[in-house]
Amino acid sequence: MNFLTDPFLIEPSLFNGPVLVTGAGGCIGAWTTAILHRSGVDVIAFDLLDDRRRPGLLLGDDADALTWEAGDVASSGVVRTIAERHNVQAVIHLAGLTIPFCIADPALGARVNVEGTINILETARALKLKRLAYASSAAVHGMPPGGPNLSTLYGAYKLANEQTAKVYALDWGVPSVGIRPNVVYGVARDSGMSARFSIGIAEAVLGNAHDIPYTGPLSFLYAGEAASAFIAAVSRDGEDAHAFDLNGPTEDVGKALEMLREFIPEHRITSSGEPMAIPPDLDDAPIRSHLGPYPAVSTRDGIEATFRAFTSLKTAGQLAAYSP
Ligand SMILES: NC(=O)c1ccc[n+]([C@@H]2O[C@H](COP(=O)([O-])OP(=O)(O)OC[C@H]3O[C@@H](n4cnc5c(N)ncnc54)[C@H](O)[C@@H]3O)[C@@H](O)[C@H]2O)c1
Repeated sequence: MNFLTDPFLIEPSLFNGPVLVTGAGGCIGAWTTAILHRSGVDVIAFDLLDDRRRPGLLLGDDADALTWEAGDVASSGVVRTIAERHNVQAVIHLAGLTIPFCIADPALGARVNVEGTINILETARALKLKRLAYASSAAVHGMPPGGPNLSTLYGAYKLANEQTAKVYALDWGVPSVGIRPNVVYGVARDSGMSARFSIGIAEAVLGNAHDIPYTGPLSFLYAGEAASAFIAAVSRDGEDAHAFDLNGPTEDVGKALEMLREFIPEHRITSSGEPMAIPPDLDDAPIRSHLGPYPAVSTRDGIEATFRAFTSLKTAGQLAAYSP
């Protein structure tokens, strides 16, 4: 499955020490960890549990070789202890709870998403780190509530993180890059409200029918491209606190399902319902201008790579069926 990460490998000399990736067991975390590891960069993977299934989708048995720390980002001091132990020089903070989890338990959502990010900023402050990127979200565009876009507690927490990061830069000189991914798809995207296109490709490869419960234009941000933006954001020392949208190509869900027919002509994946109230076409120009070059993936190429990967996983008996 090296074909998945090959287009995103980077020059390891850009880094002068280990990179801590929080949320390494999640979708973007798995991609970020796999790309860094395969590029020859020292990476410390951190997540609540030592569960390497998603990185394993990209790295195969090589995932066993990852340095992995299990811990709760919301527990004060945990991340700092790990960062000190490994002499970490950069942090990519992706650990978090997405929209459904914040709805189910708002207080836990705030603890993980807001307090967890404060623990990361505190670590950066204490260790004088100059390289910190953290995941905000396109959901901040739902703030303040009552506008045209979906407003969620998740978006409120992510906006709190951006404001908090600005205060850390002003008061304590902690630089950071907040990145607001829009809807991400690809291998390992199996959880969260907007994961249904990726799940649909897996179901199509399995020969199953599946309905995606939204239509209309959407951001098709390939997971490898998202991971590359986070890696580029810590590939040099930062200044100030920035926050950027990260969109990928804008595509109609129905048109993307037509593109999938190039690879699975007889697929039975449909879409229905209203468009998601998330802006589909945020501007990537500011982040690309700030970070410099990193790969861009067309929707067709992202679908092809995901189809190839799921086909290999199916052949190996490792592709799960997802119940809607
Ligand atoms: N995938 C998207 O479309 C998307 C879009 C916008 C923003 N984001 C943000 O990007 C980040 C990564 O997204 P993802 O899709 O990879 O999410 P994900 O749900 O796949 O992964 C999140 C990871 O965080 C870990 N985690 C949760 N609570 C934790 C805790 N208390 N301590 C340590 N680890 C914990 C989970 O175990 C999981 O592995 C998240 O912060 C998310 O909010 C994602």
